[in-house]
Amino acid sequence: MDFNIKGNIYHVGNVDWEIEHYQGYRYSTHKGSSYNAYLIKEEKNVLIDTVNDAFSEVFIKNLKNKIDLKDIDYIVINHGEKDHTGALVELMSLIPDTPIYCSKNCVKSLKGQYHKDWNFHIVKTGDKLSLGDKELIFIEMPMLHWPDSMACYLTQDNILFSNDAFGQHYASSAIYNDLVDQSELHIECLKYYANILTPYSPMLIRKIEEILSLNLPFDMICTSHGVIWRDNPKQVIDLYLKWAKDYQENQITIIYDTMWDATRVMAELIAKGIMQADSEVVVKLLHLSKKDKNDVMSEVFKSKAILVGSPTVNRGVLTSVAAAFELIKALKFKNKKASSFGSYGWSGESVKVLNERLVDSGFELVNDGLKMEWMPDEEGTKLCIDFGEEFAKETKI
Ligand code: FEO
Repeated sequence: MDFNIKGNIYHVGNVDWEIEHYQGYRYSTHKGSSYNAYLIKEEKNVLIDTVNDAFSEVFIKNLKNKIDLKDIDYIVINHGEKDHTGALVELMSLIPDTPIYCSKNCVKSLKGQYHKDWNFHIVKTGDKLSLGDKELIFIEMPMLHWPDSMACYLTQDNILFSNDAFGQHYASSAIYNDLVDQSELHIECLKYYANILTPYSPMLIRKIEEILSLNLPFDMICTSHGVIWRDNPKQVIDLYLKWAKDYQENQITIIYDTMWDATRVMAELIAKGIMQADSEVVVKLLHLSKKDKNDVMSEVFKSKAILVGSPTVNRGVLTSVAAAFELIKALKFKNKKASSFGSYGWSGESVKVLNERLVDSGFELVNDGLKMEWMPDEEGTKLCIDFGEEFAKETKI
């Protein structure tokens, strides 16, 4: 891609229609992604970020169509992760002395990954780079989402180049927020926040408040993934502030796995009880071995409360449930209630294990959970439905 987005600013990144997972298999990208890089041609010419190394060749070819590489005065690297710096290696082999402006932690990250001693210039929040009439102002964004993350703001054009912040893994030929399917955009934006940024919410609130206190006008927010926010760009800042403040909807999510269906039957009966007690609440049942783990985390993020179910196996829980807790704990969800359930044949430890993991992950237990021997019979069915009804009452908002 190489097209003008405003004034003398060009999008020179790539759309990745085929990618299905990001960071190995950590994050599913059902809708593809893009690596957005930008070229600003003023008195001084600046390239902001590059792209994934799989796109090095096409990236450099497109860049050459826009500018003689030797005329690039500066490169700004907002973040060292490979999806934005993979093509830097090839580019720097062609223009090895070009100064690279980045954070101190980004130098460490780039040296650690590529073992190159490029012409680094370390910048901090408030530092400025003159492009002639206009300036780039740097804003460090540590832990949003890596220690090296940074954004920069172009004066006069009033554009925030936010890198990962405010992005989505979303491939589209139409790159502006007002041109894409708004439902898809919202889902991908929320998934990105829930799965990547939730642990850093307190830092994010402070950083956004710091940026807003500068009273800078925002005509556009140019992210490094997905759409450019040009229609009411502040909407995504407001969304992030809402999500960062222990976000929840009137939703209960039941996540579970099952061996011979008893725990699944329990899940469905508990859901029935919740729905009987509260016709307003959204209830979702997600089988952890069948559902995408990042989609599950998006649903947990939206929930006011969760129920986790597993049968007892080898005195513990099924591995899919244990793996889900690895994610749930790491994402540091706040202000959510929970309980657990599970079937057993003889020893029956799963509910105890689940409760311990819920507490360890920061959830408020509303009761001791429900364990049930073998498949629910008539009495067991009533117990599950009653348990669901009680859970709905205890978590009602
Ligand atoms: Fe898009 Fe943190 O890389």
